[in-house]
Amino acid sequence: MYIGIRIGQEVEAQALTMASHVASLRGWHPALARAEIAALLPQAELLRLESRRLVQLNGEISIEQMQSAVECSSGCQALLWDAIVWKHEEDSTAFYQHLDTYLETYPRTGSVAVRSMKHEGKMTGVSSREYARTIGGILSSQGYPIDLESPEHRLGMVFDASAGIIACGWMIGSGDDSDGIVARRATDRPFFKPVSLDPRLARLAVNLASGPRDSGATLDLMTGTGGFVLEAALSHRETYGVDLEPFMIEGAQKNLDWAMPASEAKLLLGDATQLPDVIPSNAHQRIAGFVLDPPYGRNSQGSLDHAELIEAVLLSSRKIASQKAGLVLILPMHPFGEFPDEPLKKEAEFELLHGDWSEIEETFSRTGWRINNRWVEHVHASLGRLILHATIVPQD
Ligand SMILES: C[S@@+](CC[C@H](N)C(=O)[O-])C[C@H]1O[C@@H](n2cnc3c(N)ncnc32)[C@H](O)[C@@H]1O
Repeated sequence: MYIGIRIGQEVEAQALTMASHVASLRGWHPALARAEIAALLPQAELLRLESRRLVQLNGEISIEQMQSAVECSSGCQALLWDAIVWKHEEDSTAFYQHLDTYLETYPRTGSVAVRSMKHEGKMTGVSSREYARTIGGILSSQGYPIDLESPEHRLGMVFDASAGIIACGWMIGSGDDSDGIVARRATDRPFFKPVSLDPRLARLAVNLASGPRDSGATLDLMTGTGGFVLEAALSHRETYGVDLEPFMIEGAQKNLDWAMPASEAKLLLGDATQLPDVIPSNAHQRIAGFVLDPPYGRNSQGSLDHAELIEAVLLSSRKIASQKAGLVLILPMHPFGEFPDEPLKKEAEFELLHGDWSEIEETFSRTGWRINNRWVEHVHASLGRLILHATIVPQD
């Protein structure tokens, strides 16, 4: 028996279900990765499958939109085109028959290979090699040339041990467990400070705040060493960064030249509470994503406390925001356990390292921003991070 599985929704057992597209997420923080892919593909309706790392995407989405999303994503390792979602059983005959039909329905021109991805360890009683071999045979029998080195198309197979699910479909994206952050570690940059953000989180925040790459520009409100700016620029987004300190702007520029020599990202010396004066007027009303990693204690202006500074920045951001702008704010918090699978519950009680959460929450509604969701990232025994996503509330 083969079933389509959805969380929170009973789906009747039926002869093999053709799911819609499936996103295969990296294991670092699946809850954030789900939010990121939802932001990058706003036309899709997301349904979480039984597994923490598999999400079904319904809706009209083109291959180009999927390519663009997965290319810049931090948390998504691959998208599978109209994937087959199969609850593994000992007899795989029906699965192979269905795959046969799938390949006839979605033919590809050129060489192919099978790419396996394993989630949550090894699936008991399943040999991914055996699957790959049999599928290779089916591809050959349908006349596809196999090229393991550089195939033109890859058929992705996700073996998810936590749910006993195998998802299979033409693959978009690398399928790698890592998005390659090792090659762009913050500590390797010419200008590094302990405040520098982890590139994996910075990339995810940029995508979550800004949405698809063609939705408008990204603005890093308090650039520091350039954590967000680098990720936005490397994703080929129109990018702006602002900082009050000249040495931070110089340092961030060095980092940008190192990471992406020909980048057109603009680093601007100025005050994030006075954005219309700092950001070039041709970018006004075109900022789709704001990312904010504020300083703590008294800020360099000296006159505003933590919540007041955030309030002034939120107000200022509204003035140059596009109509559907998003914002991601990152705040350090007292350790709060590990919650990589779900957003933070509404009623959760926690303490920020600096300032009072209820004050910050009120600040958002006062300034015309709606908080959509919050997540926690565990950093170490004495530090967690609150990641908050908000969108602009349209004004009458
Ligand atoms: C926590 S750091 C940002 C770190 C950054 N995300 C990184 O990856 O390096 C905060 C930055 O905010 C800057 N800052 C403080 N007040 C500011 C303001 N009103 N406008 C713009 N930048 C400000 C500080 O100079 C500092 O560089």
